[in-house]
Amino acid sequence: MTIQLGDIAPDFTQDSTEGPISFHKYLGDSWGVLFSHPADFTPVCTTELGAVSRLKGEFQKRNVKVIGLSVDGLESHKKWAGDIAETQGCALNFPLLADHDKKVSNLYGMIHPKANDTMTVRSVFVVGPDKKVKLTLTYPASTGRNFDELLRVIDSLQLTAKHKVATPANWEQGQDCIIVPSVSNEDAKKMFPGGFKEIKPYLRMVKQPG
Ligand code: BEZ
Repeated sequence: MTIQLGDIAPDFTQDSTEGPISFHKYLGDSWGVLFSHPADFTPVCTTELGAVSRLKGEFQKRNVKVIGLSVDGLESHKKWAGDIAETQGCALNFPLLADHDKKVSNLYGMIHPKANDTMTVRSVFVVGPDKKVKLTLTYPASTGRNFDELLRVIDSLQLTAKHKVATPANWEQGQDCIIVPSVSNEDAKKMFPGGFKEIKPYLRMVKQPG
């Protein structure tokens, strides 16, 4: 079954490099990122886990707990962590699920048999504090992900969860936002006392709230 935006992220318990993890309990009130990579001891994955480890402080600032996954076992993960520390300028500093029985991979549809029968693709699930799925991404094995983009999306998700705005193409933290169409001009005047710019009746720009 495909996991869609708005679904409750399926709960699971699985072994990880930081001990067994019960997903919902582990997240608590935090946001979560669950991401898979194809296999241990592979070059692109090594750079991805290094990149996420170096960004730990950025995820923490946003109250996001990150969990990685591949279908390799715990011993393999632990050995590979040594290579990550040696080559990436940062040690692995978030839990990596050892999904040896493919329990979580199958639950989340992370194995795409027409891409590869056994390895997971590069899936990303962002989960809100309400445990609902807010974003999904799927990249092929050959393309490493841009984790700065993931932080940018999380900034948008967290902003738009709080305020009646959406974020335009290529938006970044601090830039102007769009007032959502369901808000009337009358309500927008009350909601955004600093004013807004009506370019078209459906395209109204406002300074980033909050
Ligand atoms: C990699 O992480 O480098 C990789 C993994 C599987 C297939 C191709 C590349």
